[in-house]
Amino acid sequence: MKASEFLRRRRQLMRMIGRGGIGILPAAPARLRNRDVEYPYRQDSDFFYITGFPEPEAIAVLAPGRPQGEYILFCRDRDPLRETWDGARAGPEQAVSGYGASDAFPISDVDEILPGIIEQAERVYYTMGANPEFDSRLIGWVTALRSRGSPGTHTPDEFIALDHFLHDMRLYKSRAELGCLRRAAAVTTSAHRRAMARCQPGLHEYEIEAEYLHEFRRHGMQPAYLPIVGSGPNACVLHYSANRRQMQEGDLLLVDAGSEHDCYAADVTRTWPVGGRFTPAQRAIYEVVLEAQQAAFRAIAAGNHWNEPHDAAVAVIARGLRRLGILEGTPAAIIRNGDYRRFFMHRTGHWLGMDVHDVGDYKVGDQWRMLEPGMVLTVEPGIYIPPGTRGVAPRWQGIGVRIEDDVLVTGDGIEVLTGDLPTDPDAIEALVGTAA
Ligand code: GLY
Ligand code: MN
Ligand code: MN
Repeated sequence: MKASEFLRRRRQLMRMIGRGGIGILPAAPARLRNRDVEYPYRQDSDFFYITGFPEPEAIAVLAPGRPQGEYILFCRDRDPLRETWDGARAGPEQAVSGYGASDAFPISDVDEILPGIIEQAERVYYTMGANPEFDSRLIGWVTALRSRGSPGTHTPDEFIALDHFLHDMRLYKSRAELGCLRRAAAVTTSAHRRAMARCQPGLHEYEIEAEYLHEFRRHGMQPAYLPIVGSGPNACVLHYSANRRQMQEGDLLLVDAGSEHDCYAADVTRTWPVGGRFTPAQRAIYEVVLEAQQAAFRAIAAGNHWNEPHDAAVAVIARGLRRLGILEGTPAAIIRNGDYRRFFMHRTGHWLGMDVHDVGDYKVGDQWRMLEPGMVLTVEPGIYIPPGTRGVAPRWQGIGVRIEDDVLVTGDGIEVLTGDLPTDPDAIEALVGTAA
Protein backbone atom coordinates (compact mmCIF):
# COMPACT_ATOMS: atom_id res chain seq x y z
CA MET A 1 0.00 0.00 0.00
CA LYS A 2 1.32 3.43 -0.90
CA ALA A 3 2.55 5.96 1.66
CA SER A 4 -0.07 8.41 0.37
CA GLU A 5 -2.86 6.10 1.57
CA PHE A 6 -1.57 6.20 5.15
CA LEU A 7 -1.10 9.98 4.91
CA ARG A 8 -4.70 10.37 3.76
CA ARG A 9 -5.92 8.31 6.71
CA ARG A 10 -3.85 10.29 9.21
CA ARG A 11 -5.20 13.54 7.81
CA GLN A 12 -8.76 12.29 8.02
CA LEU A 13 -8.30 11.11 11.60
CA MET A 14 -6.59 14.39 12.56
CA ARG A 15 -9.55 16.35 11.18
CA MET A 16 -11.77 14.37 13.54
CA ILE A 17 -9.43 14.85 16.49
CA GLY A 18 -9.09 18.58 15.84
CA ARG A 19 -6.68 21.11 17.28
CA GLY A 20 -6.11 20.77 20.97
CA GLY A 21 -6.44 17.00 20.74
CA ILE A 22 -3.81 14.30 20.41
CA GLY A 23 -4.26 10.70 19.36
CA ILE A 24 -2.03 7.99 20.80
CA LEU A 25 -1.76 4.52 19.26
CA PRO A 26 0.55 1.75 20.49
CA ALA A 27 1.94 -1.02 18.26
CA ALA A 28 1.04 -4.59 19.14
CA PRO A 29 3.48 -6.17 21.59
CA ALA A 30 5.46 -9.26 20.52
CA ARG A 31 4.00 -12.27 22.32
CA LEU A 32 5.66 -15.40 23.63
CA ARG A 33 4.32 -18.76 22.52
CA ASN A 34 6.41 -20.83 24.89
CA ARG A 35 9.62 -20.10 26.77
CA ASP A 36 11.64 -17.94 24.35
CA VAL A 37 9.70 -18.77 21.18
CA GLU A 38 7.53 -15.97 19.88
CA TYR A 39 4.25 -16.14 17.97
CA PRO A 40 4.60 -14.80 14.44
CA TYR A 41 4.36 -11.04 14.87
CA ARG A 42 1.17 -9.36 13.66
CA GLN A 43 0.90 -5.59 13.90
CA ASP A 44 -2.13 -4.08 15.64
CA SER A 45 -4.74 -3.30 12.99
CA ASP A 46 -5.54 0.24 14.19
CA PHE A 47 -1.85 1.11 14.47
CA PHE A 48 -1.07 -0.32 11.04
CA TYR A 49 -4.07 1.41 9.46
CA ILE A 50 -2.68 4.78 10.54
CA THR A 51 1.08 4.20 10.20
CA GLY A 52 1.87 1.28 7.88
CA PHE A 53 4.72 0.68 10.34
CA PRO A 54 5.37 -3.05 10.83
CA GLU A 55 7.51 -3.21 14.00
CA PRO A 56 6.66 -3.85 17.64
CA GLU A 57 7.68 -1.44 20.43
CA ALA A 58 6.38 1.65 18.71
CA ILE A 59 3.94 4.42 19.58
CA ALA A 60 2.32 6.78 17.09
CA VAL A 61 1.18 10.22 18.21
CA LEU A 62 -1.03 12.47 16.10
CA ALA A 63 -1.05 16.08 17.23
CA PRO A 64 -3.04 18.23 14.79
CA GLY A 65 -1.58 21.73 14.50
CA ARG A 66 1.60 20.96 16.50
CA PRO A 67 4.14 23.41 15.07
CA GLN A 68 7.11 21.01 15.31
CA GLY A 69 5.21 18.31 13.41
CA GLU A 70 1.83 16.64 13.60
CA TYR A 71 2.88 12.98 13.36
CA ILE A 72 5.39 11.67 15.88
CA LEU A 73 6.59 8.09 15.84
CA PHE A 74 8.48 6.47 18.71
CA CYS A 75 10.23 3.29 17.59
CA ARG A 76 13.15 1.00 18.39
CA ASP A 77 16.53 2.57 17.85
CA ARG A 78 18.96 0.98 15.41
CA ASP A 79 21.07 -1.64 17.18
CA PRO A 80 23.63 -3.54 15.06
CA LEU A 81 23.96 -6.35 17.60
CA ARG A 82 20.21 -6.96 17.93
CA GLU A 83 19.74 -6.58 14.19
CA THR A 84 22.27 -9.37 13.64
CA TRP A 85 19.89 -11.66 15.53
CA ASP A 86 16.44 -10.34 14.68
CA GLY A 87 16.78 -8.46 11.39
CA ALA A 88 16.74 -4.83 10.36
CA ARG A 89 14.90 -2.12 12.26
CA ALA A 90 13.73 1.12 10.73
CA GLY A 91 15.00 3.36 13.52
CA PRO A 92 13.83 6.95 13.96
CA GLU A 93 15.61 8.19 10.84
CA GLN A 94 13.75 5.83 8.53
CA ALA A 95 10.54 6.40 10.46
CA VAL A 96 10.76 9.92 9.03
CA SER A 97 12.22 9.14 5.59
CA GLY A 98 10.30 5.93 4.90
CA TYR A 99 7.09 6.12 6.93
CA GLY A 100 6.16 9.78 6.76
CA ALA A 101 6.66 10.72 10.42
CA SER A 102 7.29 14.43 10.88
CA ASP A 103 9.36 13.68 13.95
CA ALA A 104 10.65 10.38 15.37
CA PHE A 105 12.37 9.37 18.60
CA PRO A 106 13.78 6.19 20.12
CA ILE A 107 11.10 4.36 22.11
CA SER A 108 13.54 4.36 25.05
CA ASP A 109 13.00 8.15 25.31
CA VAL A 110 9.21 7.99 25.40
CA ASP A 111 8.95 8.59 29.17
CA GLU A 112 10.99 11.78 28.74
CA ILE A 113 9.26 13.16 25.68
CA LEU A 114 5.63 12.02 25.55
CA PRO A 115 4.44 13.65 28.81
CA GLY A 116 5.56 17.01 27.41
CA ILE A 117 3.43 16.44 24.30
CA ILE A 118 0.47 15.25 26.37
CA GLU A 119 0.81 18.40 28.44
CA GLN A 120 0.06 20.54 25.38
CA ALA A 121 -3.23 18.75 24.74
CA GLU A 122 -6.70 19.43 26.06
CA ARG A 123 -8.08 16.13 24.82
CA VAL A 124 -6.37 12.75 24.53
CA TYR A 125 -7.85 10.27 22.04
CA TYR A 126 -6.90 6.76 22.94
CA THR A 127 -8.38 3.24 22.83
CA MET A 128 -8.84 2.33 26.46
CA GLY A 129 -8.96 -1.24 27.70
CA ALA A 130 -7.46 -2.94 24.65
CA ASN A 131 -3.91 -3.07 25.99
CA PRO A 132 -3.83 -3.03 29.81
CA GLU A 133 -0.06 -2.63 29.99
CA PHE A 134 -0.20 0.46 27.80
CA ASP A 135 -3.22 1.82 29.72
CA SER A 136 -1.17 1.89 32.90
CA ARG A 137 1.80 3.51 31.15
CA LEU A 138 -0.45 6.27 29.85
CA ILE A 139 -1.93 6.85 33.29
CA GLY A 140 1.66 6.88 34.58
CA TRP A 141 2.59 9.72 32.18
CA VAL A 142 -0.43 11.78 33.19
CA THR A 143 0.30 11.12 36.86
CA ALA A 144 3.90 12.20 36.31
CA LEU A 145 2.65 15.48 34.87
CA ARG A 146 0.31 16.05 37.80
CA SER A 147 2.97 15.28 40.36
CA ARG A 148 5.32 17.81 38.86
CA GLY A 149 2.96 20.15 40.63
CA SER A 150 4.76 23.23 39.42
CA PRO A 151 2.46 26.13 38.67
CA GLY A 152 1.49 26.17 35.04
CA THR A 153 1.71 22.41 34.55
CA HIS A 154 -1.29 21.42 32.52
CA THR A 155 -2.99 18.05 32.21
CA PRO A 156 -5.60 17.15 29.57
CA ASP A 157 -9.21 17.74 30.52
CA GLU A 158 -10.64 14.82 28.61
CA PHE A 159 -9.86 11.28 27.56
CA ILE A 160 -11.91 10.26 24.53
CA ALA A 161 -12.31 6.81 22.94
CA LEU A 162 -10.29 6.87 19.72
CA ASP A 163 -11.70 3.61 18.39
CA HIS A 164 -15.09 5.24 17.89
CA PHE A 165 -13.63 7.48 15.14
CA LEU A 166 -11.07 5.07 13.76
CA HIS A 167 -13.39 2.11 13.48
CA ASP A 168 -15.94 4.09 11.58
CA MET A 169 -13.21 5.05 9.09
CA ARG A 170 -12.13 1.42 8.78
CA LEU A 171 -15.66 0.34 7.94
CA TYR A 172 -15.60 2.16 4.58
CA LYS A 173 -12.99 0.50 2.37
CA SER A 174 -10.93 2.65 0.02
CA ARG A 175 -9.92 1.60 -3.47
CA ALA A 176 -6.49 0.53 -2.14
CA GLU A 177 -8.07 -1.53 0.62
CA LEU A 178 -10.39 -3.22 -1.86
CA GLY A 179 -7.30 -4.09 -3.88
CA CYS A 180 -5.86 -5.91 -0.85
CA LEU A 181 -9.15 -7.64 -0.06
CA ARG A 182 -9.49 -8.79 -3.67
CA ARG A 183 -5.96 -10.16 -3.62
CA ALA A 184 -6.60 -12.10 -0.40
CA ALA A 185 -9.91 -13.32 -1.87
CA ALA A 186 -8.25 -14.55 -5.08
CA VAL A 187 -5.57 -16.55 -3.29
CA THR A 188 -8.12 -17.94 -0.85
CA THR A 189 -10.46 -19.15 -3.59
CA SER A 190 -7.57 -20.73 -5.46
CA ALA A 191 -6.57 -22.52 -2.23
CA HIS A 192 -10.12 -23.89 -1.92
CA ARG A 193 -9.94 -25.18 -5.50
CA ARG A 194 -6.60 -26.81 -4.82
CA ALA A 195 -7.89 -28.47 -1.65
CA MET A 196 -11.04 -29.76 -3.32
CA ALA A 197 -9.04 -31.14 -6.24
CA ARG A 198 -6.69 -33.06 -3.94
CA CYS A 199 -9.34 -34.31 -1.55
CA GLN A 200 -10.04 -38.03 -1.23
CA PRO A 201 -11.10 -40.51 1.45
CA GLY A 202 -8.22 -41.69 3.64
CA LEU A 203 -6.50 -38.32 3.90
CA HIS A 204 -6.35 -36.54 7.24
CA GLU A 205 -7.86 -33.14 7.80
CA TYR A 206 -4.38 -31.70 8.36
CA GLU A 207 -3.36 -32.81 4.89
CA ILE A 208 -6.15 -30.67 3.48
CA GLU A 209 -5.08 -27.82 5.79
CA ALA A 210 -1.59 -28.15 4.29
CA GLU A 211 -3.00 -27.43 0.81
CA TYR A 212 -4.28 -24.07 2.08
CA LEU A 213 -1.01 -23.22 3.81
CA HIS A 214 0.88 -24.13 0.66
CA GLU A 215 -1.24 -21.87 -1.51
CA PHE A 216 -1.19 -18.98 0.98
CA ARG A 217 2.54 -19.11 1.63
CA ARG A 218 3.52 -19.43 -1.99
CA HIS A 219 1.82 -16.07 -2.50
CA GLY A 220 3.55 -14.56 0.53
CA MET A 221 0.39 -14.66 2.63
CA GLN A 222 -0.56 -16.39 5.85
CA PRO A 223 -3.85 -17.59 7.32
CA ALA A 224 -6.01 -14.74 8.56
CA TYR A 225 -7.29 -17.07 11.32
CA LEU A 226 -6.91 -20.72 12.34
CA PRO A 227 -8.21 -22.83 9.44
CA ILE A 228 -11.23 -24.95 10.32
CA VAL A 229 -11.01 -28.30 8.50
CA GLY A 230 -13.85 -30.38 9.91
CA SER A 231 -14.91 -33.68 8.36
CA GLY A 232 -17.88 -35.85 9.31
CA PRO A 233 -19.06 -34.92 12.82
CA ASN A 234 -16.37 -32.24 13.10
CA ALA A 235 -18.23 -30.15 10.51
CA CYS A 236 -20.74 -29.48 13.30
CA VAL A 237 -18.10 -28.02 15.67
CA LEU A 238 -18.16 -24.31 14.85
CA HIS A 239 -14.60 -23.44 15.89
CA TYR A 240 -13.00 -26.85 15.29
CA SER A 241 -9.29 -26.44 14.56
CA ALA A 242 -7.59 -29.65 15.74
CA ASN A 243 -7.81 -30.86 12.10
CA ARG A 244 -6.54 -34.34 12.85
CA ARG A 245 -9.29 -36.77 11.88
CA GLN A 246 -8.88 -39.23 9.03
CA MET A 247 -11.59 -38.59 6.44
CA GLN A 248 -13.86 -41.32 5.15
CA GLU A 249 -15.98 -42.00 2.09
CA GLY A 250 -19.42 -40.56 2.76
CA ASP A 251 -18.16 -37.68 4.94
CA LEU A 252 -18.83 -34.06 4.29
CA LEU A 253 -15.84 -31.80 4.75
CA LEU A 254 -16.36 -28.21 5.89
CA VAL A 255 -13.37 -25.93 5.40
CA ASP A 256 -13.39 -22.35 6.66
CA ALA A 257 -10.04 -20.80 5.69
CA GLY A 258 -8.87 -17.42 4.48
CA SER A 259 -5.57 -15.76 3.79
CA GLU A 260 -4.31 -12.38 4.90
CA HIS A 261 -2.63 -9.99 2.49
CA ASP A 262 -0.92 -6.88 3.87
CA CYS A 263 -3.14 -7.14 6.95
CA TYR A 264 -6.39 -7.63 4.96
CA ALA A 265 -8.35 -10.86 5.37
CA ALA A 266 -10.46 -13.18 3.29
CA ASP A 267 -12.93 -15.45 5.06
CA VAL A 268 -14.36 -18.26 2.93
CA THR A 269 -16.12 -21.54 3.70
CA ARG A 270 -17.00 -24.37 1.38
CA THR A 271 -18.49 -27.74 2.25
CA TRP A 272 -18.00 -30.69 -0.04
CA PRO A 273 -18.32 -34.48 -0.07
CA VAL A 274 -14.94 -36.12 0.59
CA GLY A 275 -15.62 -38.82 -1.99
CA GLY A 276 -16.99 -36.43 -4.62
CA ARG A 277 -20.75 -37.22 -4.37
CA PHE A 278 -23.25 -35.74 -1.92
CA THR A 279 -25.66 -38.26 -0.40
CA PRO A 280 -29.31 -37.26 -0.92
CA ALA A 281 -29.56 -36.12 2.70
CA GLN A 282 -26.35 -34.07 2.49
CA ARG A 283 -27.49 -32.50 -0.76
CA ALA A 284 -30.89 -31.62 0.68
CA ILE A 285 -29.29 -29.74 3.59
CA TYR A 286 -26.69 -28.19 1.30
CA GLU A 287 -29.38 -26.83 -1.00
CA VAL A 288 -31.22 -25.17 1.88
CA VAL A 289 -28.00 -23.44 2.99
CA LEU A 290 -27.23 -22.38 -0.57
CA GLU A 291 -30.73 -20.98 -1.03
CA ALA A 292 -30.32 -19.12 2.28
CA GLN A 293 -27.06 -17.59 1.08
CA GLN A 294 -28.64 -16.49 -2.19
CA ALA A 295 -31.58 -14.96 -0.34
CA ALA A 296 -29.13 -13.11 1.90
CA PHE A 297 -27.24 -11.78 -1.15
CA ARG A 298 -30.51 -10.42 -2.55
CA ALA A 299 -31.16 -8.62 0.74
CA ILE A 300 -27.85 -6.73 0.61
CA ALA A 301 -28.06 -3.29 -0.94
CA ALA A 302 -27.06 0.22 -0.03
CA GLY A 303 -29.95 1.55 2.04
CA ASN A 304 -30.98 -1.83 3.45
CA HIS A 305 -30.16 -2.36 7.10
CA TRP A 306 -27.55 -4.69 8.55
CA ASN A 307 -29.97 -7.38 9.67
CA GLU A 308 -31.93 -7.79 6.42
CA PRO A 309 -29.62 -10.49 4.98
CA HIS A 310 -29.78 -12.38 8.28
CA ASP A 311 -33.58 -12.22 8.33
CA ALA A 312 -33.65 -13.47 4.74
CA ALA A 313 -31.33 -16.40 5.52
CA VAL A 314 -33.29 -17.33 8.65
CA ALA A 315 -36.55 -17.38 6.68
CA VAL A 316 -35.12 -19.83 4.12
CA ILE A 317 -33.56 -22.05 6.78
CA ALA A 318 -36.73 -22.17 8.87
CA ARG A 319 -38.77 -23.12 5.80
CA GLY A 320 -36.19 -25.67 4.69
CA LEU A 321 -35.90 -27.39 8.07
CA ARG A 322 -39.70 -27.58 8.22
CA ARG A 323 -39.95 -29.00 4.70
CA LEU A 324 -37.38 -31.69 5.49
CA GLY A 325 -39.26 -32.61 8.67
CA ILE A 326 -36.38 -31.66 10.94
CA LEU A 327 -38.46 -29.01 12.70
CA GLU A 328 -42.18 -28.91 13.33
CA GLY A 329 -44.64 -26.04 13.28
CA THR A 330 -45.13 -23.22 10.84
CA PRO A 331 -42.03 -21.41 9.56
CA ALA A 332 -43.36 -18.23 11.20
CA ALA A 333 -43.54 -20.01 14.57
CA ILE A 334 -40.10 -21.57 14.05
CA ILE A 335 -38.69 -18.07 13.52
CA ARG A 336 -40.69 -16.47 16.32
CA ASN A 337 -39.76 -19.00 18.99
CA GLY A 338 -36.17 -19.31 17.74
CA ASP A 339 -36.30 -23.09 17.15
CA TYR A 340 -34.10 -22.74 14.05
CA ARG A 341 -31.25 -21.71 16.38
CA ARG A 342 -30.78 -25.34 17.37
CA PHE A 343 -29.30 -25.85 13.89
CA PHE A 344 -28.25 -22.32 12.81
CA MET A 345 -26.74 -20.83 15.94
CA HIS A 346 -24.58 -18.05 14.56
CA ARG A 347 -25.24 -14.86 12.66
CA THR A 348 -25.26 -14.69 8.87
CA GLY A 349 -22.18 -12.50 8.69
CA HIS A 350 -19.86 -9.87 10.06
CA TRP A 351 -17.81 -6.95 8.79
CA LEU A 352 -14.60 -8.00 7.06
CA GLY A 353 -11.38 -6.04 6.65
CA MET A 354 -8.06 -5.90 8.48
CA ASP A 355 -9.58 -8.05 11.21
CA VAL A 356 -11.53 -11.07 10.08
CA HIS A 357 -14.32 -10.02 12.43
CA ASP A 358 -13.74 -6.43 11.51
CA VAL A 359 -14.48 -3.32 13.52
CA GLY A 360 -17.46 -1.07 13.00
CA ASP A 361 -20.79 -0.74 14.79
CA TYR A 362 -23.68 -2.92 13.69
CA LYS A 363 -26.22 -0.62 15.27
CA VAL A 364 -26.69 3.11 15.53
CA GLY A 365 -28.41 3.63 18.85
CA ASP A 366 -30.89 0.78 18.97
CA GLN A 367 -31.41 0.63 15.18
CA TRP A 368 -29.58 -1.68 12.79
CA ARG A 369 -27.07 0.25 10.72
CA MET A 370 -27.77 1.02 7.07
CA LEU A 371 -25.54 -0.67 4.51
CA GLU A 372 -23.52 1.76 2.41
CA PRO A 373 -21.18 1.49 -0.58
CA GLY A 374 -17.65 0.51 0.45
CA MET A 375 -18.70 -1.74 3.33
CA VAL A 376 -17.51 -5.36 3.15
CA LEU A 377 -19.24 -8.21 4.95
CA THR A 378 -19.35 -11.99 4.96
CA VAL A 379 -22.47 -13.99 4.13
CA GLU A 380 -22.25 -17.37 5.82
CA PRO A 381 -25.42 -19.25 6.65
CA GLY A 382 -25.08 -22.80 7.93
CA ILE A 383 -26.97 -25.81 9.25
CA TYR A 384 -25.33 -28.10 11.81
CA ILE A 385 -26.90 -31.34 13.07
CA PRO A 386 -24.38 -33.11 15.35
CA PRO A 387 -24.58 -36.90 15.79
CA GLY A 388 -26.94 -37.81 18.59
CA THR A 389 -29.21 -34.78 18.11
CA ARG A 390 -32.44 -35.73 19.87
CA GLY A 391 -35.65 -35.81 17.88
CA VAL A 392 -33.94 -35.77 14.48
CA ALA A 393 -33.99 -38.75 12.10
CA PRO A 394 -30.63 -40.58 11.85
CA ARG A 395 -30.16 -39.71 8.17
CA TRP A 396 -29.66 -36.02 9.06
CA GLN A 397 -27.32 -36.60 11.97
CA GLY A 398 -23.65 -35.73 11.52
CA ILE A 399 -24.34 -33.26 8.70
CA GLY A 400 -22.76 -29.82 9.00
CA VAL A 401 -22.84 -27.33 6.12
CA ARG A 402 -21.70 -23.71 5.89
CA ILE A 403 -21.20 -21.65 2.74
CA GLU A 404 -19.35 -18.36 3.22
CA ASP A 405 -18.44 -15.62 0.78
CA ASP A 406 -17.13 -12.07 1.06
CA VAL A 407 -19.31 -9.29 -0.30
CA LEU A 408 -18.71 -5.63 -1.13
CA VAL A 409 -21.68 -3.27 -1.04
CA THR A 410 -21.53 -1.10 -4.18
CA GLY A 411 -23.54 1.88 -5.37
CA ASP A 412 -25.86 -0.26 -7.44
CA GLY A 413 -25.78 -3.71 -5.84
CA ILE A 414 -23.12 -6.06 -4.55
CA GLU A 415 -19.86 -7.56 -5.71
CA VAL A 416 -19.09 -11.04 -4.38
CA LEU A 417 -15.32 -10.78 -3.97
CA THR A 418 -15.03 -14.57 -3.73
CA GLY A 419 -17.69 -15.25 -6.36
CA ASP A 420 -15.45 -17.13 -8.78
CA LEU A 421 -15.44 -20.13 -6.42
CA PRO A 422 -18.50 -22.26 -7.19
CA THR A 423 -21.20 -22.98 -4.64
CA ASP A 424 -23.53 -24.93 -6.93
CA PRO A 425 -23.53 -28.55 -5.68
CA ASP A 426 -22.96 -30.05 -9.15
CA ALA A 427 -20.05 -27.68 -9.75
CA ILE A 428 -18.61 -28.57 -6.33
CA GLU A 429 -18.85 -32.30 -7.12
CA ALA A 430 -17.06 -31.68 -10.39
CA LEU A 431 -14.12 -30.07 -8.56
CA VAL A 432 -13.58 -32.71 -5.86
CA GLY A 433 -10.84 -35.28 -6.35
CA THR A 434 -9.75 -34.19 -9.82
CA ALA A 435 -6.08 -34.08 -8.72
CA ALA A 436 -6.23 -36.83 -6.11
N1 GLY B 1 -13.80 -17.78 10.16
C1 GLY B 1 -14.56 -17.16 11.15
C2 GLY B 1 -15.90 -16.79 10.69
O1 GLY B 1 -16.36 -17.33 9.70
O2 GLY B 1 -16.53 -15.94 11.23
MN1 MN C 1 -15.19 -18.10 8.17
MN1 MN D 1 -16.86 -15.36 8.80
